[in-house]
Amino acid sequence: MEEIVSLCKRRGFVFQSSEIYGGFASCWDYGPLGAELKRNVKNAWWRAVVQERDDMVGLDSSILMHPKIWEASGHIATFNDPLVDCKTCKSRFRADHLDTTPCPQKSSKMAGQAEPCALTEARLFNLMFKTHVGPVDRDDDSNVAYLRPETAQGIFVNFPNVLTTSRKKLPFGIAQIGKAFRNEITPGNFTFRTREFEQMEIEYFCRPEDAPRLHEEWIQARYQWYLDLGMKRENLSLRPHEKDELAHYAQSAESTGTTDIEYQFPFMDKPAELEGIANRADFDLSQHAKFSGQKLTYFDQANNEHITPYVIEPSAGADRATLAFLVDAYHEEEVKEGDTRVVLKFHPQLAPVKVAILPLAKNKAPIVEVAQRLRGDLAKKMVAQYDDTAGIGKLYRRQDEIGTPYCVTVDFDTVEKDNAVTVRDRDTMQQERIALDQVKNYLLDKLDV
Ligand code: GAP
Repeated sequence: MEEIVSLCKRRGFVFQSSEIYGGFASCWDYGPLGAELKRNVKNAWWRAVVQERDDMVGLDSSILMHPKIWEASGHIATFNDPLVDCKTCKSRFRADHLDTTPCPQKSSKMAGQAEPCALTEARLFNLMFKTHVGPVDRDDDSNVAYLRPETAQGIFVNFPNVLTTSRKKLPFGIAQIGKAFRNEITPGNFTFRTREFEQMEIEYFCRPEDAPRLHEEWIQARYQWYLDLGMKRENLSLRPHEKDELAHYAQSAESTGTTDIEYQFPFMDKPAELEGIANRADFDLSQHAKFSGQKLTYFDQANNEHITPYVIEPSAGADRATLAFLVDAYHEEEVKEGDTRVVLKFHPQLAPVKVAILPLAKNKAPIVEVAQRLRGDLAKKMVAQYDDTAGIGKLYRRQDEIGTPYCVTVDFDTVEKDNAVTVRDRDTMQQERIALDQVKNYLLDKLDV
């Protein structure tokens, strides 16, 4: 964990939020490379689940919504975690996580001498952040709103809008990426569990009898997405939820439950959830129909009937996926005896920088000119970085450490002899001489961006 956190900070992937003020608990900011990486993760998801499919459309709904939505969705009544306090050390815990985050009083090396921990009875704590809308500063709850704890509800309440405007037929899905907020009792493990995070969610609407099959298909499709982007199979697993851990919307007899895609982070003792794929049956559309008084049904022409569709929901965390891709890509390798390198072996689609242009002599005008022109040309198609601030060996190591798939060196031969450059592959470290006018196509072909 320390190595990853330190690399993230040193190279500008992730910074502690509000650092100059001493930080703000469990909040993180993505630096220049982290912002590119996370954007690439989200783009890869959007491309795979919206743009490449004919049965999916996108949405971008607002974070603040009518408070009745959270009554209808069950979040006001049931989106609670059990909270316990230790009266001795004044710490707070989730009662259901006591095995993984024990009271420090209990686990303290001084335990022998310390007072025993004294836990209170568990009480329920609602995880939604409350705020007030409008300029009035009132104590009453008449203008209360909530920061959404999941993006899903923005999709459910837009179901009729999307249905009429897109004219999709069942089965079809709506995807959205956006911020969600939860006042977690025990955030932690770097960006894994935070109070502000981003979700990538799909609500896939279908006929009730098709739900079990489509649930299974989505589990496989989403699992495959992580593999396609280079995640190691041995670190991924699928885990169906036990009955007693199912969220309120997946508890009905009609639901086929929830299966999590889990990742074995090196700093956790067991695999942890990256994404949950739930069968929410008709829970949400029925609830919103009831609370709003609107018709949220689908007219099935073939069978001449109005039905409330069932919903399969693959719900992923953009921050968790980003962290998992980062951890998974991290390698320390011995290059030759006694010489090691750190290399992030990102899939080319995810790599924050696709190519680095390295002039071999930073003061030779013809070399600099060619190198800068090449960077400018490549930058129209991919993130291309120019670096002349060290010797070539060090520049290569720097790019390896941030996962840049290709480095292009412009040297004396380029301008004096062959009008070609050296392209170095991050993983094999093999070098190839490529004609200048072929470099762009060569890279586009290899990178598939
Ligand atoms: N709409 C369903 C839903 O929200 P969830 O399992 O509670 O389901 C979905 O959340 C995903 O959102 C999780 O798999 C995880 O990747 C991400 N997520 C949830 N809580 C999070 C937190 N506190 N910090 C970071 N990511 C979180």
